[in-house]
Amino acid sequence: MDEADVEGDLVSILFTEEQIQTRLEELAAEIEKDYQGKEILLVGVLRGAVMVMADLARHFGRHVEMDWMAISSYGSGTKSSGVVRILKDLDTDITNRHVLVVEDIIDTGLTLSWLVSNLTSRGPASVEICTLLRKPDALQMTVEVRYVGYDIPNEFVVGYGLDYAERYRNLRCVGTLAPHVYS
Ligand code: IMP
Repeated sequence: MDEADVEGDLVSILFTEEQIQTRLEELAAEIEKDYQGKEILLVGVLRGAVMVMADLARHFGRHVEMDWMAISSYGSGTKSSGVVRILKDLDTDITNRHVLVVEDIIDTGLTLSWLVSNLTSRGPASVEICTLLRKPDALQMTVEVRYVGYDIPNEFVVGYGLDYAERYRNLRCVGTLAPHVYS
């Protein structure tokens, strides 16, 4: 789905498909350099991170494993509830593994702080985070985010995996949702 298919629903396009791919390629190169000689387990957070995971993983020129977790945070609104629940756990035992959490967006960071402490308690060799997008509030997080695609303003965005009420995930670009859609 392109911008034209959701005409009037976006206030602006923040990142085009090309810009997203270029940035993911840069991040993959950086990650490859940092993890030389180490096996990487990419952990994607469903459902928003599906697109980031698929494209980031394919930018690597080496093997990476992938696993998924599903956790609930937002429901169908645009505000973080702060309540985190595991809907689907990892299939992989991460003891002594180098885990790289792949996220679509970090807003308050509540979800991720919870996830990182949950994963850390399982005895991995390391846990790092890679996110395509980060909002300003996330900077107050205690958890350090090693790889960030783009810092964005504090607005509700959709596309490239990010939804509003389960819609817009298949939009190729990332755009700011017009308030009339959710108010
Ligand atoms: P946090 O716990 O506030 O960091 O929220 C993280 C989760 O909320 C993300 O993984 C998204 O699923 C969702 N989220 C946060 N901001 C947005 C947004 O602007 N658009 C769509 N989903 C968002």
